[in-house]
Amino acid sequence: MIVILLGPPGSGKGTQADKIKKILNIPHISTGDILRESIKKGSPIGEKAKQHMQSGGLVPDDIIIEIIKQRITGADCKNGFILDGFPRTINQASALDVLLKGKSLKIDKVINMDVDDKIVIERISGRRTCRGCGTNYHIKYNPPAKENVCDKCGKELYQRDDDKIETIKQRLVVYRKETHVLLDYYKEIVISIKADKGIDKITDSLVSLIKTND
Ligand code: AP5
Repeated sequence: MIVILLGPPGSGKGTQADKIKKILNIPHISTGDILRESIKKGSPIGEKAKQHMQSGGLVPDDIIIEIIKQRITGADCKNGFILDGFPRTINQASALDVLLKGKSLKIDKVINMDVDDKIVIERISGRRTCRGCGTNYHIKYNPPAKENVCDKCGKELYQRDDDKIETIKQRLVVYRKETHVLLDYYKEIVISIKADKGIDKITDSLVSLIKTND
């Protein structure tokens, strides 16, 4: 099962992918998480990605496509995977088509998480991320049991550099310019859901959509 979650920054792609991966028993692949991990390690990819991410722009396609090419060959991907934050450009989408064709695989579901900008800004500005395991929280909608401490690994929570208001606005501009066109690219298979409800309600909708065979 190969599932792509599309949607603007802050639509809840990461939160939902983290929940449905346990239900479907397939890995959650987030290019944003992979890049943040590369920056933390100080790797060459992290060095190249840093500036683009901090300014709210996109990391060049060749870097991202190579990351995905490597990641989907992992043994844990043999039964499929959930893509979150990839593809983000037409170039990335066509590269994915080529990669999957080479493995005789196909995309099963493309789901667009539709929310308006006001919600995006409220969600992202309240997001806190764990320095250790990367789990996301929200100070109001999904708070940790103990303030600023990750429920899963006990490490400190922080606000991502690109979660400041000016950068969020820039990420929305980039989303509209580069990524929104993917709705047309995937028009034969994409399904849009309103992603402005509570986290668990959205998970239920996603799981039922994913499990429907059509
Ligand atoms: P990335 O990390 O992918 O960021 P993004 O797509 O902008 O998405 P976000 O992580 O901001 O949001 P999300 O939709 O996952 O929402 P979340 O579940 O966290 O990318 C970061 C950067 O890396 C990019 O700007 C770019 O520079 C680079 N990059 C990454 N991939 C790339 C690619 N393919 N090509 C080029 N560059 C790339 O939820 C947000 C908050 O809301 C959380 O606090 C959460 O707790 C809360 N929340 C979630 N759902 C709900 C709900 N239903 N109700 C209330 N609160 C909720």
